Amino acid sequence: MAPGSAAPLTLQAVADIFSSEERDITYRVIHARRDMRHFIGGEVEAEVLERILQAAHAAPSVGFMQPWRFIRITDAALREKLAGVVESERQRTAAAMDQRKSEFMRLKVEGLRDCAELIAVVLAPDDGTVFGRRTMPDEMALCSVSCAIENMWLAARAENIGMGWVSFFEPDDVAALLRCPEGSKPIALLCLGPVKAFYDKPMLENEGWRKRESMDVVLSENQYPIATDERR
Ligand SMILES: Cc1cc2nc3c(=O)[nH]c(=O)nc-3n(C[C@H](O)[C@H](O)[C@H](O)COP(=O)(O)O)c2cc1C
Repeated sequence: MAPGSAAPLTLQAVADIFSSEERDITYRVIHARRDMRHFIGGEVEAEVLERILQAAHAAPSVGFMQPWRFIRITDAALREKLAGVVESERQRTAAAMDQRKSEFMRLKVEGLRDCAELIAVVLAPDDGTVFGRRTMPDEMALCSVSCAIENMWLAARAENIGMGWVSFFEPDDVAALLRCPEGSKPIALLCLGPVKAFYDKPMLENEGWRKRESMDVVLSENQYPIATDERR
């Protein structure tokens, strides 16, 4: 092979195609995934949790940097402290709202005390990866962690386990409680566990907070769909 030329592609995965039933199930899981805040206690079996976490770690990441770290919270006192941090931020969020403050305070925005498992997801300190992130290093690392969380969400739904992403917290407070190193940043507190039922629509839609946009607002051809943003 000439120096600098790419190695020939091996297409060994070509036979690994999905049936139409498997495709349909995949879309069903995607559309049935919900952000859950109502949990019924119980537990997540060890092998189920293992599969969900393996799904997270199978996520794509910029330059394959895998900047996610997962911390399973098993100490009840620590969970309570984290719940306190979240409650403080919920109050501060309400105070920062001009309108809809009381409507917001009626919404359930976390299930930290009722969920079976609490997993903190932390963005690891920057390892200096340049591949794919020369122009947007912070965003691309963060996007990679988000991919891992979405994988967990989908895996949890396929396991009939609810998952809720809680972002109401001061990252420095969570970092201190979890002894995160300098340069890292907590991104999510994930509540996981059995639920009585999955919401049929986003809870914020069911509660009249906000609706899903129609496809023509988010999709266009050849140029940004600016007119749709101005329409609001
Ligand atoms: C980055 C991110 C942070 C979120 N943080 C919270 C949160 O702190 N509390 C909450 O109740 N929901 C949170 N959510 C869930 C959203 O409210 C939810 O995804 C949205 O309402 C759509 O509902 P669905 O996920 O059921 O489709 C978060 C979602 C994302 C993607």
